[in-house]
Amino acid sequence: MTNATSFNFQAAFATRVRGMTASAIREILKVTQQPDVISFAGGLPAPELFPLDAVRAATTAALDRYGPAALQYSTTEGHPPLREWIGQQAGIPAQNVQILTGSQQGLDLLGKILISEGDTVLVEAPTYLGALQSFQPYLPNYVQLPTDEGGIDVDALEDILKTTRAKLLYAVPNFQNPTGRTLNLERRKRLVELTAQHGVLVIEDDPYGALRFTGEALPSLYSLGLELAGSVDQNHIIYSSSFSKTLVPGLRDAWVQAARPIIQKLIMAKQGADLHTPTLNQMIVTELLPILPAQIETVKKAYGERAQHMMARIATDFPGDTQHTVPEGGMFLWVTLPEGIDTQAMLPRAVERKVAYVPGSPFYALGGGENTMRLSYCTATPDQIEKGIKALGDTIREALN
Ligand SMILES: Cc1ncc(COP(=O)(O)O)c(C=O)c1O
Repeated sequence: MTNATSFNFQAAFATRVRGMTASAIREILKVTQQPDVISFAGGLPAPELFPLDAVRAATTAALDRYGPAALQYSTTEGHPPLREWIGQQAGIPAQNVQILTGSQQGLDLLGKILISEGDTVLVEAPTYLGALQSFQPYLPNYVQLPTDEGGIDVDALEDILKTTRAKLLYAVPNFQNPTGRTLNLERRKRLVELTAQHGVLVIEDDPYGALRFTGEALPSLYSLGLELAGSVDQNHIIYSSSFSKTLVPGLRDAWVQAARPIIQKLIMAKQGADLHTPTLNQMIVTELLPILPAQIETVKKAYGERAQHMMARIATDFPGDTQHTVPEGGMFLWVTLPEGIDTQAMLPRAVERKVAYVPGSPFYALGGGENTMRLSYCTATPDQIEKGIKALGDTIREALN
């Protein structure tokens, strides 16, 4: 053996992953995970609401029903009864449904099959950070779409589409992560029409849609696209959803609904990624479908109360010149502070006061939002909301002075 020399791992990495860095949020969460810090920073569903007993019973039921087949390799497309059920809910054939190992896998695989280097991908400003992470290795060229209380500004979208050859638009229309905002009906219709006219595919990422605690449910972009196209296999909207926020995230069960050409390529990409979503997990989720409506009610009620409580405390404890979104569902709200306040720089001060949030700028593909922050209300107790919002109000007031 010759002398050991240091191996140059950096040079070994593929060019497409050289720009990959640790998620800004993960780094931030490390600081905020001290046990005495009240954290509004996390993005996890409330674990005390998980239907533990039902999952235990569903596991036994799946093993009893299927025997060794529950532990065998299975088809890439997914467990047939689960695909059937999802198809029925959406009024489409099961063959247009692909089961995925978390909707995060769907984002990665859709990036893989749709994005060539330099393709223009339109994203909301701000958008879901995990989508940016999934798409980044495929080297897209991002264009940010301005947003306001009603979601994406569709006039701006129209202008962008006139001058930019876009391949794909990615959006979270219901109770968006990170802002909690919902795309209004009129804009949904225009977004679907405009993208169809310009030949732009749309990924509608909808993990939170079932968790509406106030207001009227709105039609999905997918259903509007279906109406416009008149055929499931001509719909240019790709719909993605998940059992992570309605049941439990740890089973990693999610799905995509799309036109056959997209599903066929997704199947091939998924074969290369993990062959199939764990067989037993899909069977457990299928056994749990009868309790899903009651479980959704439980989660909605709890999150709705927590959101109301947090907004009430913000109204009394934050300085008057702060603004926040009013989510009608989901897990997050978004706070905008006066210009000039940098929430990333302010975070250590908040942690000193034993409260944490996620600064807003990592959610922007091309930068912005330095004066914004994401707050999650879904895991906080009333007492934590009171103390945490008070401490955060004091931190903001100090920064303003
Ligand atoms: C908008 C959005 N999409 C996708 C995901 C990933 O969810 P899943 O657990 O289904 O992979 C999340 C998780 O937080 C999310 O907020």
